[in-house]
Amino acid sequence: MRILGIESSCDETAAAVVEDGSRILSSIVSSQMATHSRYGGVVPELASREHLRAIVPAVRLALQESSTRLEDLSAIAVTEGPGLVGSLLVGMTYGKALAMVHKLPLIAVNHIEGHIHAVASQSEVEFPALALVVSGGHTHLFEFAEGFRYRLLGKTRDDAAGEAFDKVAKLLGFGYPGGPVIDMLAPHGNPEAVRFTLAKMKGNTLDFSFSGLKTAVLRWFEARDMANEIAARRTLLRENVTPSVDDWLRVTPKATLDLLASFQGTVIDELLRRATRSAEEIGARSLIVSGGVACNSGLRRAADEAHLPYPVFFPAPTLSTDNAAMIAAAAFPKLARGEFADSTLKAQANLALA
Ligand code: KG4
Ligand code: ZN
Repeated sequence: MRILGIESSCDETAAAVVEDGSRILSSIVSSQMATHSRYGGVVPELASREHLRAIVPAVRLALQESSTRLEDLSAIAVTEGPGLVGSLLVGMTYGKALAMVHKLPLIAVNHIEGHIHAVASQSEVEFPALALVVSGGHTHLFEFAEGFRYRLLGKTRDDAAGEAFDKVAKLLGFGYPGGPVIDMLAPHGNPEAVRFTLAKMKGNTLDFSFSGLKTAVLRWFEARDMANEIAARRTLLRENVTPSVDDWLRVTPKATLDLLASFQGTVIDELLRRATRSAEEIGARSLIVSGGVACNSGLRRAADEAHLPYPVFFPAPTLSTDNAAMIAAAAFPKLARGEFADSTLKAQANLALA
């Protein structure tokens, strides 16, 4: 059974064909990074316009690369939310129209559930699992039980972890998105150089908070004159949308590399500390980490070196950031259960998973 997945919740226009919930026959991701990079973040109006331009070719290519005709499909899956409404609408409306014209069932998928399935569909996850979803929009801990049941254990009270990476990068002139650049440069700095103390959490201790860390970075920044190095990085970004590590190292002094390493180390500690504590609380038999920040090589290394008593699963990097294969994979159990949507389906900016 083949499902066409369509994802357009943020700044990637994606389409994929997945067979029987796990075999990825094609996965097309058309990134808008070049459009948003100069603004230091996603501009919603530009994102919708880019989705409109990219959606038809992305779907066509996903079908072509998987040698699938529309009549070979068992269903079409679209992201219902959470995300930017104008962006969500593009993929959802196109998916609805295709489903209607070709008389195919339509399946609505929660974007966060998609991120979890990016891992669950590709590995032998034992239940109950603890799922840490870390991206630009979310930092959530879920108990993930047999039968695709979710229970929210904790979440960020302010910024998402990816958002913290993006804001720090923007402040220091590294462009957008910030995660990949900081990941690339952190190994060149000393993670012990700058000490960040995070505020103690009141109430649910499985919640996260990254705004204090962001403010601490801002204080560090304000105490220095960084005008020259920031100007040099802006120039680099104007000349080259994707600078290499050597390009960045030429315009980034040691003190800034130390700051980046310390910042990243603090985020990783926070993520792993709360994830392992919640895993313990629910007696987890596996840990899943997914979402864009799951690409982070420092996080992967730290999880590996922690020698946890249960297996830890990360998605392949191409399945970590937004993609449509994860949406098609998450739709498969819904197809089996006959959980279909219809043309009244609405895009939901703040859709919760649990
Ligand atoms: O899952 P995703 O593509 O979109 C959302 O649903 O938000 O995640 C994008 C986020 C961005 O904030 C980006 O900076 C972060 O994931 N990211 C990373 C890395 N690659 C992407 N953060 C840390 N390290 C990375 N290597
Ligand atoms: Zn995402």
